[in-house]
Amino acid sequence: MATILAIESSCDETSAAICKDGKILSNIIATQAVHQKYGGVVPELASRAHQQNIIPVVQEAVAAAKISKKDIDGVAFTRGPGLLGSLLVGTSFAKAFALANSLPLIEVNHMQAHVLAHFIDDPKPSFPFLCLTVSGGHTQIVLVKNYFDMEIVGETNDDAAGEAFDKTAKILGLPYPGGPLIDKYAREGNPHAFAFPEPQITGLDFSFSGLKTSILYFVRDRQKEDPAFLEKNMADICASVQYRIITILLNKLRKAARQYRISDVAIAGGVSANSGLRTMLQEAAEKNGWQVFIPAFQYCTDNAGMIAIAGYYKYLNHDFVDQDVAPMARMNF
Ligand code: KG4
Ligand code: ZN
Repeated sequence: MATILAIESSCDETSAAICKDGKILSNIIATQAVHQKYGGVVPELASRAHQQNIIPVVQEAVAAAKISKKDIDGVAFTRGPGLLGSLLVGTSFAKAFALANSLPLIEVNHMQAHVLAHFIDDPKPSFPFLCLTVSGGHTQIVLVKNYFDMEIVGETNDDAAGEAFDKTAKILGLPYPGGPLIDKYAREGNPHAFAFPEPQITGLDFSFSGLKTSILYFVRDRQKEDPAFLEKNMADICASVQYRIITILLNKLRKAARQYRISDVAIAGGVSANSGLRTMLQEAAEKNGWQVFIPAFQYCTDNAGMIAIAGYYKYLNHDFVDQDVAPMARMNF
């Protein structure tokens, strides 16, 4: 029996969750609207907003779980990777809470937690499986051998998939974060209206920076011919860009599945909320005989529920850290 309080503060979401015996009882997420007008996350503003949000978010998570503070057996927190100032707020809170209540402290790697989000709800994948983790900061194909035995077999050489969505949105004049908006417009558009190039990268690695440049020149040239080109073609441009990003991701995933002879395939991270990716992954699964695993929306983008489930498995292993633990902006598995 174990009840875990988990804290996530790696980027621009302040989140707290309660997990009891592997079940998520609450998962409260405060999204920081302050970054919208800057077109991206401003690190200093993010850490200040975390400071304002963290106590009310934890109080709400405890209340929503219908537990009391004294029921908590351990405190899990995101140690990294992420923005240092943001991580520092969650780490300091977790350390203080653990110290004040004489509780063990559990560090969690944010990218491993995205993968472990698959162990919150049924159906759960069986080991080994492949996980395509696609977020604003990372794009990885992870070979998951066990809960904490993971190997990155492919990753991006430059921009992450979420960045490709967000930077495209910026070029198209859409607000940050642009991924969900491109997804929305793409539903009304033709994915084959415009052809964007697929980068020629060997192996299982990705590259998205060339795509961004080609979209920039494409929009600039077409607007010279017709200043209203963007407004008239927004849905088709979004659908075509989204189609290219997804085909880049799925082609590498297919290659990895063949190379490692694995047919259990999962997606994780903020971009796994994309409806086009979800649909095309299902289609690829039918063609290739895969069993696919897609987390519920609330566990795709940054959330403490995934930190809580990772923390729960670490708690069972008595995998604790001391009070002198410090956050890590870069953190390997
Ligand atoms: O995992 P996440 O919440 O934070 C990071 O750890 O980065 O991922 C955020 C990223 C952003 O780039 C956002 O635009 C993207 O996920 N995203 C989406 C969608 N929802 C979130 N991208 C495409 N389609 C979506 N529906
Ligand atoms: Zn994330």
